[in-house]
Amino acid sequence: MFEQLNKLYIGTNMKMYKTIQETKNFLRELSVYTEDIKSSDLELFVIPSYTALETARQMASSKRIKIGAQNMCWAENGQFTGEISPLMLKEVGVDLVMVGHSERRHIFDESDEEINKKVLSAIEHGFTALMCIGETQDDKIGGTSDETLRLQLKRGLQNVTKVQAPNLWIAYEPVWAIGESGKPASETYANTKHKVIKQCLNELFGESIGRQIPILYGGSVNNLNAPELAKMDNIDGLFIGRSAWNAKNFNQIIRHVLPLFQEKQE
Ligand code: PGA
Repeated sequence: MFEQLNKLYIGTNMKMYKTIQETKNFLRELSVYTEDIKSSDLELFVIPSYTALETARQMASSKRIKIGAQNMCWAENGQFTGEISPLMLKEVGVDLVMVGHSERRHIFDESDEEINKKVLSAIEHGFTALMCIGETQDDKIGGTSDETLRLQLKRGLQNVTKVQAPNLWIAYEPVWAIGESGKPASETYANTKHKVIKQCLNELFGESIGRQIPILYGGSVNNLNAPELAKMDNIDGLFIGRSAWNAKNFNQIIRHVLPLFQEKQE
């Protein structure tokens, strides 16, 4: 069994949903709901749309709630119309950058090579890089899920050094589990895949560093399955879409999950 991390990681990706005003309201509510929870127990993060980033940073100015960007160009500047650079995100005060979300890979055809450039650039610019990986339904049916996960890790994390690796978080989000048409992975299935990911990270960075990298499960997490997922040995946190976009509901999930996670550590 792998060693547990000492805090729970839980966050939400807002995708292309909330406006600036909606993000503001959400963060205001979430800050009040969660103000008694210590950051040493919970790493709470919110990844809003680009236009809402500056407001989100102001709303979460104490940094108790980390703010992330949904994507980033690897280059600092240049002829990259429509892209956002690491310097621009630094200026806004973003803490983390999500890279390689399933929708980026599958709708916008992002490759592991591009994802790798973004991961390296994010870390070099002082952000935490949250790299998302996950197998497709075809991989699952064909029995190649583990190979796909290992390939995405090895390609996406190429040239990340042992010194840089502690700035990584991994989100395991099976493509077939995400979104309205998704079916959540069972807790045992997710746990098995997290184990594969942990083993691969240990191979890449050595055990003492590999085990510091949190692995979050995402894909149709909801109030019912969140507690069961959080009890699993290899699951260090949850990455939630739809069920977290209402601050009250998000807080309910956090409240259910946090004590279970803490019990697991005892
Ligand atoms: P979902 O989204 O929880 O709405 O399935 C998860 C994600 O895409 O990160």
